[in-house]
Amino acid sequence: MNTLIKNGTLITASETFEADILIEGETISQIGKNLRHPSAQVVDASGKFITPGGVDPHTHFDLPMFGTASSDDHYTGHKAAAFGGTTTVMDFVVQEPQGFKHSVDLWMQKAQKAAIDYSFHMNLTKLDDGLARDIPSLADMGITTLKVFTAYNGRLRLDDGGIFRAMRIARDNGMLVMAHCENGDVIEPLIAEALAAGHTSPEWHARTRPAWGAVESTLRLAAMAEQADAPVYIVHMNAGGEADMLKYARERGVKAMGETCPQYLFFTVDHLRRPDGAKWICSPPMRTEKDNARLWEGLHDGTLQTIGTDHCPFFLDGTKPIVYEGKEIAIAGKELGKDDFTKIPNGLPAVGDRLPILWTYGVRAGRITANQFVALTATNPAKIFGLYPRKGALVPGADADVVIWDAEKKVKYGTAYSHHRTDYNLFEGWEVVGMPDKVFLRGKLIVDGNDWRGAAGQGQFLKRGAGEIL
Ligand code: URP
Ligand code: ZN
Ligand code: ZN
Repeated sequence: MNTLIKNGTLITASETFEADILIEGETISQIGKNLRHPSAQVVDASGKFITPGGVDPHTHFDLPMFGTASSDDHYTGHKAAAFGGTTTVMDFVVQEPQGFKHSVDLWMQKAQKAAIDYSFHMNLTKLDDGLARDIPSLADMGITTLKVFTAYNGRLRLDDGGIFRAMRIARDNGMLVMAHCENGDVIEPLIAEALAAGHTSPEWHARTRPAWGAVESTLRLAAMAEQADAPVYIVHMNAGGEADMLKYARERGVKAMGETCPQYLFFTVDHLRRPDGAKWICSPPMRTEKDNARLWEGLHDGTLQTIGTDHCPFFLDGTKPIVYEGKEIAIAGKELGKDDFTKIPNGLPAVGDRLPILWTYGVRAGRITANQFVALTATNPAKIFGLYPRKGALVPGADADVVIWDAEKKVKYGTAYSHHRTDYNLFEGWEVVGMPDKVFLRGKLIVDGNDWRGAAGQGQFLKRGAGEIL
């Protein structure tokens, strides 16, 4: 099946220009003016923008947590991503005691139902000599990224020695360490003290995870990367001070890169004080308006390279079903922690919101340019994670992952548009101007206005090689 998209305005990471796009099979074959093809189906994109499909480098589908699991799986989350203009996602594999191969196989099984293209990062939450020797096998599987944690003591955290060791192994194997930066040694006693004092409300989730821990941990990881002569990628940056530390490190030539997420650009700890504050519980937590502003500045001036989502949704009230694809479903969620903030599953929905919200409140609001929007949400993640130019690019030879935007479409955004399999949306009622109209995955139309044309199982696993350091 060939498709000729005529008269659109293409937005790439560096340019905006009018052109036609010819898709032959699964790839873009030509970009230019007045293109013709004898049999291609013609799509008129007059008055519309065209971007590469979004690349979300940070999702958690079907992630077990606190006796439940994140409520979007590798089909429902992919479908939501597609409706929001994202055609590639990267999910984090839980490290099982049986080893990397076993862990990856489990995640591969879960992702059999994939509806868009996907790849994996490996959580590195234990490290011994055997595992250290086995890390290069992940690169052979096309998984060239390891996520380490400086928090969640006794569960996910690696000590600094382990992180330094992982960085050096990653360096020697064309891999990249991604870091969750908080200070677990500070967080654990603060949580214990808060609970002992009877502080159980969602606000205390933020109060026990101070921004300073994120700030010093970001600098610590950047410093360790420099000493390991390795790159590092700081995930879900949330505190303005983290952007300051990243800037400090990058100005000194450290190969440090950073990602933030929509929630850290729009919300604050005040949202956790609301009666429905559990909706905003994720780790790291929401900060302040000053932090929001500093992160926007960091995106605009190039200190941060990507915007992912850390999509990890839970129902606010998993005792009450929602209707999803015609069937009722309820999945235990944030109600598990109604009397204790430490039992509220950490995470929130965002994968479908990312592009429409950033288009309206980033590009239209003048905080970032349209080209930065594409760079931050598609091209840079593809480059950093070894998928460029197959993904994140509108160039001949690239996968035909293409989004046609109706930049004039105005909607009152919320669950009616986001397609996440959960019972709330953080942007409920926000006015959005500009929505994906048509979304193509490798040349196949999977979203057409409000219609879902995609299917479980059509997403492909993307084996990744070494990425670029931006
Ligand atoms: O609260 C969050 N972010 N849940 C997902 C796990 C993580 O640390 O990214
Ligand atoms: Zn994390
Ligand atoms: Zn995450």
